[in-house]
Amino acid sequence: MKLRIAIQKAGRLHEDSVRILRDCGIDLNNGANKLKTEASNFPLEVFFLRDDDIPQYVEDGVADAGIVGENIVLERQKQVHVLERLGFGRCRLSIAVSRTLNYHSLADLNGLRIATSYPVIVGKFLEKNHIRAEIHEISGSVEIAPGIGLADAIGDLVSSGSTLFMNGLQEVETILASEAVLIAAKSLSVDRDLVLKKLLFRINAVRKARNNKYILLNAPNDKLKQIIGLLPGMKSPTVLPLAEEGWSSVHSVVNEDDFWEIIENLKANGAQGILVVPIEKMIL
Ligand code: PRP
Ligand code: ZN
Repeated sequence: MKLRIAIQKAGRLHEDSVRILRDCGIDLNNGANKLKTEASNFPLEVFFLRDDDIPQYVEDGVADAGIVGENIVLERQKQVHVLERLGFGRCRLSIAVSRTLNYHSLADLNGLRIATSYPVIVGKFLEKNHIRAEIHEISGSVEIAPGIGLADAIGDLVSSGSTLFMNGLQEVETILASEAVLIAAKSLSVDRDLVLKKLLFRINAVRKARNNKYILLNAPNDKLKQIIGLLPGMKSPTVLPLAEEGWSSVHSVVNEDDFWEIIENLKANGAQGILVVPIEKMIL
């Protein structure tokens, strides 16, 4: 029994969605122009759909799982499980107004017309903050609404900010931060659930590997203790003697977040010849 997963057909999440499946060792025949494709070495069928529709397809059981922005899951309010944040497609849903508007605080949104494709999320935000504004729901090219006089403000996704910039808009309030998530249907057959668990296991291994680096360095033996103290490792660092007396080679795994700080401290403590290599999979 194949697991049917829906991913974005084209757009911001498409490439990274394909990449995470490929990094899980799943062979996909390239099929961006097709409606669906099958993996040759894993019981998976991939549907290419509009991201906005993915929660609906998963709720209806047309697809068993999906990769979609959290923003869309929150907006659509469908009955699906969010299983895992995927660490890509990071963006925020924000309110933006014309750069010429002298914006001071949230209260300035009172009485404005706000164009958005996210009426549910924006509506809740306004309500929570006791703002009375008019929401105009439009399905695309929201950023041009103020320029053509359709609205005074927009509620839209921002990632690099270049869309806002090019349209003379300024971001004034952030409503939520979002990233790609893996969603699944609330009930799945036993067979499909098993495949989903296998997929999730692989995704976790890929995610951990992406967040960590393998590090190798040479250390003078009289500094080993301090250097080892800086390197947590999976259990503890591996230490091997070098051919040159008085020196050791130390191998470990470091987290991306603390990476540069650790490197600086290692150097300050006498480490030399530091090599950093990517990890492909990480299973703890
Ligand atoms: C969003 C948003 C902007 C753009 C912002 O669209 O609607 O057009 O991305 O990105 P930037 O800050 O890097 O310029 P999205 O890619 O989600 O397309 P969609 O709404 O058509 O799905
Ligand atoms: Zn979309």
